[in-house]
Amino acid sequence: MTIKIWALPIALLLGVSIVATAAAAAVDPAKAYEARHTQFHAIASAYKSIMDGLKAERPDAAAIGSQAKTIEGLAHQIPTWFPVGTGPESGVKTRAKPDIWTDSEGFAAAAKALETQSAALQTIAKTGDVVAIQAQAKALGGACGGCHTKYRGPEIDHDHDHK
Ligand code: HEC
Repeated sequence: MTIKIWALPIALLLGVSIVATAAAAAVDPAKAYEARHTQFHAIASAYKSIMDGLKAERPDAAAIGSQAKTIEGLAHQIPTWFPVGTGPESGVKTRAKPDIWTDSEGFAAAAKALETQSAALQTIAKTGDVVAIQAQAKALGGACGGCHTKYRGPEIDHDHDHK
């Protein structure tokens, strides 16, 4: 049996593409959705703590700063919560818009904006200036809305999954 000299590179190419396909298939869209759902609720709960904290007669600036730090850490990870193949085309009931993947740079910038605003809130919280903290908390909230407007679709009725 003669092995054709050209057969080897082709086999290697095929091998590579099979491995790449297997890697893409390894992302379970339902699991990816569940994971980011949990993470966004962690972000939302930290944000709620900040807003509730600001309603106190004497807001605890240190506690607000620490919630802002939590948000900063999570904001940094946001782009990693959206692997290719976990959008609406996967059949998962997700509010993620296809733009997240077609405009991944814009999406990363929107995540970065939240990171920046939460870092700024930590700095301002250290001053203890409640009025300034309030203004920065509002700017932080604006970074949530800035991304949602562009990259999150309308609410979906998750049967028996009310929250
Ligand atoms: C860079 C973009 C981006 C930023 C910044 C962002 N979000 Fe979101 N958020 C999304 C997307 C996209 C979804 C939809 C995810 C899905 O359905 O797969 C979402 C979903 C959510 C959900 C619903 C989670 C669920 O599945 O039920 C909550 C709550 C939420 N975000 C709160 C916030 C809050 C609060 C902030 C700011 C402190 C924030 N988000 C900042 C993009 C963002």
